[in-house]
Parts: sequence; C-alpha cells; structure tokens
Amino acid sequence: MAEALRPLVYVTRRLPEAPLERLRAEAEVRVWDDDEPIPRADLLREVRRAQGLLTMLTDRVDAEVLEAAPELRVVSNMAVGFDNLDVAELTRRGIPAGNTPGVLTETSADLAFALLLAAARRLVEADGFVRAGKWTSWQPMLLTGQDVHGATLGIIGLGRIGLEVAKRARGFNMRLLYNAPHRKWETEATLGARYADMYDLLAESDFVTLHVPLNATTRGLIGEKELRTMKPSAVLVNTSRGAVVDQPALYRALKEGVIWAAGLDVFAEEPLPADDPLLTLDNVVVAPHIASASIATRTRMARVAAENLLAVLRGEPAPHTINPEVYALPGWRPGIS
Ligand code: DGY
Repeated sequence: MAEALRPLVYVTRRLPEAPLERLRAEAEVRVWDDDEPIPRADLLREVRRAQGLLTMLTDRVDAEVLEAAPELRVVSNMAVGFDNLDVAELTRRGIPAGNTPGVLTETSADLAFALLLAAARRLVEADGFVRAGKWTSWQPMLLTGQDVHGATLGIIGLGRIGLEVAKRARGFNMRLLYNAPHRKWETEATLGARYADMYDLLAESDFVTLHVPLNATTRGLIGEKELRTMKPSAVLVNTSRGAVVDQPALYRALKEGVIWAAGLDVFAEEPLPADDPLLTLDNVVVAPHIASASIATRTRMARVAAENLLAVLRGEPAPHTINPEVYALPGWRPGIS
C-alpha cells in the first residue's frame, strides 16, 4: 500500500503493542498515549482528519464527534457493549461501528462468578478482618455467609456471557432460572435452565446476575420494586452496565436488609466516586469495571477492534458490526485503499 494513501486511524487510549503494530501495517496510526481517557476537546480535535476511530467504552461518540470528523469511515469500540456510541447517528451517516463480542465471554463470566462467590462468602470483608488484626479466635458463626452450591441462580439476559455463567453455576449444582427476550430451548435442554417471568425469577432466586445490554428497555430495570421482590437473603451481581440498576435504590435495599449483599463491577457513574454511599456498606463487593480484564482477553479485544477497523478501511464489512444495515446503504463508501 502506497504511503500517501494510507488511512489515518486515531486510537483513543494506550494499547498493547501487538494490536497497534497490526494497525500500523495498514494505516497511519495516532494514539492518545495515556491510561486515562482522552479529554473531549482533544478527541474533537484529533478526529478531524481521521478515517478510522478506535474507541473505548468511556468515549462518547455522538453527533458532535461525528460532525467534527468529516472523513470518518469507521468507528471500532474495544468492548462488546456499545451504549457509548450513538448508533442511530452513525447509521444515519453510513458509518459502520464495530464491537468485540466472543473474545471476552468466558473472562467476563469468570468475574461475575467471582463476585457472586465473594459477596456470598463475605470474602473481602474476611480479608479486611484478618488484615485489621481482628481475628482473635475461631468462632462458630464468625463471618458466616450464604451457600452457593445448591442455591437458585436467576440469570437476567441469557446471551453469550449469561450462558457461560450458567455453565459455571451447574458446576456448583445450582438450580438455574433465566429471563430473556426469547426462550433458549437448547440451554433449557442442556443445562436444565428454566425460563421464568422476571418477577418470578427475582422472587425465587438466591442469586440474581445481570447480563443485559444497556438500552432504553433495560435502563433502571432493577429498581426499588424489583429489589423488594427479591429474598432478604439474596445476592445481586451486576457486571453488565451500572445504569441497569437504580443505584440509590440498591444502596437503600442493602442498608435496610431488603437484600443481603451485592457484587458490582459496573456503576451508574464510573469511576465510582470515593464518597459514594455504597462504599460505606460491608455487604457490597466492588470492582472497577474489570470483568473482561485478563491480559489475554484485553489483548484479544484490542486485536478484534483493530481488525474490525482495518476491514472497513480496506473496503470490507467489519467482522463484528453493530449496524450492518449500513453496508446496504447506497452511499456507503468503504475506504480509500
Ligand atoms: C464490554 O466489553 O462491554 C465490557 O464492559 C468491557 O469489559
């Protein structure tokens, strides 16, 4: 490919070297070389000449960004979730948007299960207890938690990640309930999962884990009414998006013993402010949105994001496109190679 014709790709965060090298093989690459998000003003300036934009879930890509990027031909989000992208606006402009499904499924399911176990067995509280020198003797009821084995797990959203959580739960002999827009007959047959109305699921489950995308239907899905439907001994796990849960309602439910505990990787506002009331509670285990954060998986996600982007710049559909309808638009202009 002649140097002069190489498209310009802007990457909004420091990434591992291998995916950057992959991009450099076919494009001129500029990087916001920092571990913190690119400030909005810098993003608006940097996209001006870019044909490809590789974004993180912290970058809001909306009409303002797209307006500032007249040459933009593709946006590739390094995440499976894409609630940070204005997909309707991208589609209206004929710009394909990519995401990274598949490569993070099992890693994310592992973390959901880790949060479930940690909240159920008070692992973080126990760790703090020992470190604080409070361990004076073995006591019959010291730091007693909830049994995971044999309990009922309610999975809301049985996509790829929800399914992997279900498989892990079977290893713990858990009974499986699920709620999803469509019945998953195969999962019912192979894992013995039972479809349940959301309120029946909430009422019957000892653990409830959320695996829905954030959209207009799921925003605030779990609020005061839903939390009050759950058992007082129940544990809520959220590794989807913070806004799926009404966070002030969750705080009240945890404080008042409406539910027993929560394991949370995602929050309404990220980063979670250090003075958030949730952090005053012992019955919450928190993580900083790291469900997919294994070295191998994050590297794979960056690689998939790079391949999505390069495909469109070469004039091919991205392997993972959120808005594939753009490829049918008469005005779709795939690339400059
Ligand atoms: C995603 O990919 O959407 C995750 O939230 C990132 O870990």
